[in-house]
Amino acid sequence: MKKIGILTSGGDAPGMNACIRAIVRTAQYNNLEVMGIMRGYSGMMEGDFMEMGPRSVSNIIHRGGTILKSARSKEFRTKEGMEKAYKALKAANIDAVIVIGGDGTFRGANEFSNLFDIQMVGAPGTIDNDLFGTDFTIGYDTGINTALDAIDKIRDTAHSHNRLFFIEVMGGDAGFLALWSGIGGGAEAILLPEFDTSIDGLIDSLKGGYERQKSSSIVVVAEKGGAGRAIHIANVVKDRLDQYEIRVTILGHIQRGGTPTCSDRVLASQLGYESVMALLSGENRVMVGIVNKELKLTPFEEAKKHHVKADKNLLELARVLSF
Ligand code: F6P
Repeated sequence: MKKIGILTSGGDAPGMNACIRAIVRTAQYNNLEVMGIMRGYSGMMEGDFMEMGPRSVSNIIHRGGTILKSARSKEFRTKEGMEKAYKALKAANIDAVIVIGGDGTFRGANEFSNLFDIQMVGAPGTIDNDLFGTDFTIGYDTGINTALDAIDKIRDTAHSHNRLFFIEVMGGDAGFLALWSGIGGGAEAILLPEFDTSIDGLIDSLKGGYERQKSSSIVVVAEKGGAGRAIHIANVVKDRLDQYEIRVTILGHIQRGGTPTCSDRVLASQLGYESVMALLSGENRVMVGIVNKELKLTPFEEAKKHHVKADKNLLELARVLSF
């Protein structure tokens, strides 16, 4: 192996740049040439590559987004798309690729590397934290802290107006972001996509809170199948609860941007370094992760969402603490 490629794919996540920096510098330290692949698998099919060196990743450790840009490519899912990508990699003499992304990114990498002789290693980068094989994904810590900051701000205005707020957070079809930002933000209720929401139960608990002199309340709602779930739930609650004026805030893509936290930068640096080391030791089709402070390599086919679930005990903790 002489030359490696790096790409970022799927939803961007704060800390991806710190990971790119770590990969480029670790690779060059170990005498590997590095090519940046632009726009994920789209750029891989088009041969949109750029040479990278230690100085091309200067001053990016603190920047959100990804300097390599990201995309979700439908064409790469086809055999023709993969053949195109293989030809482009071979033409540029790239022997191995490190992909930074989530579940969909690794699925693509797995299929591709099974079909063609390109070594692939993945680093988990998504605000959703929904991958099996790592305690935390790159971007999650920043995402929850961005959501938390917004919840704190909304709490001020909710309290001033005696209102009930439904705050919708991202997370794909996983509730990690909602659960942590909800507990950290002291939410009265947290609605996760993994568990059924009882509207009767929610209304009873909000009424109970009102009777216990809560002048305002916050319900954190995880999106489900895209944005808008909080609007729907708020409308149903509005018809049956007249104790509070109700408002809805959908936080949206604000959770994906911004300066990565220190935890995300350190995690991204570790995982970037470890993904190069994994390639050097001949690993293929694995995701690097940290579990209980230890490095863990997980085969792509296991590093999936749905192999992890939000912790029901934490949900119970949130319920009791909203008393
Ligand atoms: O996977 C990251 C994520 O931000 C999810 O939380 C969200 O459901 C999705 O991406 C949004 O994707 P897009 O930016 O394509 O609308």
